[in-house]
Amino acid sequence: MKKNIVVQLENVKKIYSMGDAEVQALRGVSFEVEQGEFISIMGPSGSGKSTCMNMIGCLDTPTSGIVKIDDKETSKMSETELAVLRNQTIGFVFQQYHLIPGMNVIENVMLPLKYKRIEKRIRVELAEKALDKVGLSERMYHLPNELSGGQKQRVAIARAIVTEPKIILADEPTGALDTATGIQVMDLFKEINKKSGTTIIIVTHDPRIGKSTKRCIKILDGLLC
Ligand SMILES: Nc1ncnc2c1ncn2[C@@H]1O[C@H](COP(=O)(O)OP(=O)(O)OP(=O)(O)O)[C@@H](O)[C@H]1O
Ligand SMILES: [Mg+2]
Repeated sequence: MKKNIVVQLENVKKIYSMGDAEVQALRGVSFEVEQGEFISIMGPSGSGKSTCMNMIGCLDTPTSGIVKIDDKETSKMSETELAVLRNQTIGFVFQQYHLIPGMNVIENVMLPLKYKRIEKRIRVELAEKALDKVGLSERMYHLPNELSGGQKQRVAIARAIVTEPKIILADEPTGALDTATGIQVMDLFKEINKKSGTTIIIVTHDPRIGKSTKRCIKILDGLLC
């Protein structure tokens, strides 16, 4: 059967130049992720995990090499096409949640739908459904600062899944949480992966998180190992 590859990196290199100094953050990284996989990218601080994530999420461009998302080479896409890809194909989750403090929970979750020209009634319905999936229906009208860390991360996950993206990219999603809450968040990702078939890529420095995913890609000094 033909494999359905949704993420493909081919010899991706990223050099950050700062004046005369250069940092080789990625030194030739190649891997593929199939539709529906649940994987982690694991490595110590400074190994290139977030840089790699930024390449997959089209938040930054490689110095050389090829990144293909959903079979499309990102370097050949226009800014508008990339914006659509980031909004509709990918859902992002970050360590520090990145919720908008002045908006309540449901408004935060509805935000990615704003760009899709969906009428408000449907946006509300979709956001309610996403919040139900993460078990936060009771907190819809709370502000982010009225929530615990684990609840904030669940709001961020609801915001990531509300557009039903093919891929979820999560950079240290449990990094700011205690162990038990971190396990709950990982269980939620597992459930989303299983029920919706969403491809999930988790970046972590924590070997326990690495072990808990079906496949773990290890990175060290900008190279897979
Ligand atoms: N914008 C930047 N400009 C210059 N150097 C950078 C930039 N971003 C990252 N780097 C450097 O690239 C290397 C890889 O950084 P990256 O953020 O990808 O690591 P990481 O594995 O995510 O680390 P952490 O676990 O601490 O988040 C590091 O040496 C870092 O200092
Ligand atoms: Mg990082």
